[in-house]
Amino acid sequence: MRMVDIIDKKRNGKELTDDEINFFIDGVVNGSIPDYQTSALLMSIYFRDMSDHERTALTMKMMQSGERLDLSDIPGIKVDKHSTGGVGDKVSIPLAAMVAAVGIPVPMISGRGLGHTGGTLDKLESIPGFKVEISKDAFIKQVAKEKLAIIGATGDIAPADKKIYALRDVTDTVDSIPLIASSIMSKKIASGTDALVIDVKTGAGAFMKTLEDSTNLAKALVAIGKGAGMQCMAVISDMNQPLGNKIGNTLEIEESIDLLKGKGPEDLKALILTLGSYMVLLGGKANNFEDAKRMLEKTIESSEALDRFRAMVDSQGGDARVIDNYRLMPHAPFRLELPAKKSGKISKLSADEIGIASMMLGGGRQKAGDSLDYGVGIELHKKMGDTVQKGESLMTIHSNNEHIEEVKQLIYQNIEISAEAKIPKMIYKIIK
Ligand code: URA
Repeated sequence: MRMVDIIDKKRNGKELTDDEINFFIDGVVNGSIPDYQTSALLMSIYFRDMSDHERTALTMKMMQSGERLDLSDIPGIKVDKHSTGGVGDKVSIPLAAMVAAVGIPVPMISGRGLGHTGGTLDKLESIPGFKVEISKDAFIKQVAKEKLAIIGATGDIAPADKKIYALRDVTDTVDSIPLIASSIMSKKIASGTDALVIDVKTGAGAFMKTLEDSTNLAKALVAIGKGAGMQCMAVISDMNQPLGNKIGNTLEIEESIDLLKGKGPEDLKALILTLGSYMVLLGGKANNFEDAKRMLEKTIESSEALDRFRAMVDSQGGDARVIDNYRLMPHAPFRLELPAKKSGKISKLSADEIGIASMMLGGGRQKAGDSLDYGVGIELHKKMGDTVQKGESLMTIHSNNEHIEEVKQLIYQNIEISAEAKIPKMIYKIIK
């Protein structure tokens, strides 16, 4: 078999055989296929797409390129959640604690942020001492005992994805449905969960900007998950504006804990209750959505979700006193207000540029390996549809210095105040 023939076949829009896909992935992992040929095939896939059969074959082969976790020692149906990535998206942290408090084991393997989207692991590391890299055995023991753990990929999960993702990043082939779907699902199938709810973001701050593309991605993800024998479904949710009111690592942990104390913002709570209710249904703990939602609400009222979060922080070496004293986490020395330039209603609050602004403050990485400033970020006082008076503060910027003209300019360019404004829907569609 020759790689050039495989590229030619896909370039001409033909379906690849399982053997050809296997040859490609084996060659990527053992280094026998050079990056320029891999990139050429990725670009051909980007333009020619893949059939359902090809997408499943690619995912399974990428999954088999590394290790697959065996979670069978943990009793019960294990349920995980994955998000395609957003700004202010701290959902995983309170959600895992709430679902665990219902009695469902949540073995969550999360990622770091890159570009304008934040990563759950980075946020958790603003808690002093919190370890996201723990051994496979410690992970399994913790999920069995405490019902939840949130960690980074252990050992050797889907090494083919690591190589392919790095090439996609530099060949502008990231936003391709078969490539995103195989990347996400190869890792999730390898992580050993029984069931998965996927939060597919749509809008200005998402990889998929239109509802049509987001729906196609959601369908592809669910089809692959089911094909691999996993219970799988997707929720399509809004990413036109940031989720919740806080963006930045420490700030997002504060908002997550607030939510577990019953004080979080409404949009974040609505999304968590929707995703969580489906997780409770897949975990077999409720018969209908309303019952599942009620069970989750009770975990906040009874503080059981907060107890689960405290147990996770303790088990993973973190200082759980942060729950009662946010000052124990890093904070930026300057708080700068951004006043509205006119009165009206907020009609645009662009998620991606607010994410980029937070990154420019030092809260995100410009490139892989950059170190983070946990204390910086943005605290929104107004969201889309809210009324604002000229001079009133739109947001507080938490910064390490007072000279942030570029950041302020970027934010002003991406906020619109008009006479009328629509509040975007939080949940667009459910794909089962
Ligand atoms: N997340 C992933 O893991 N892979 C992608 O391709 C996109 C989002």
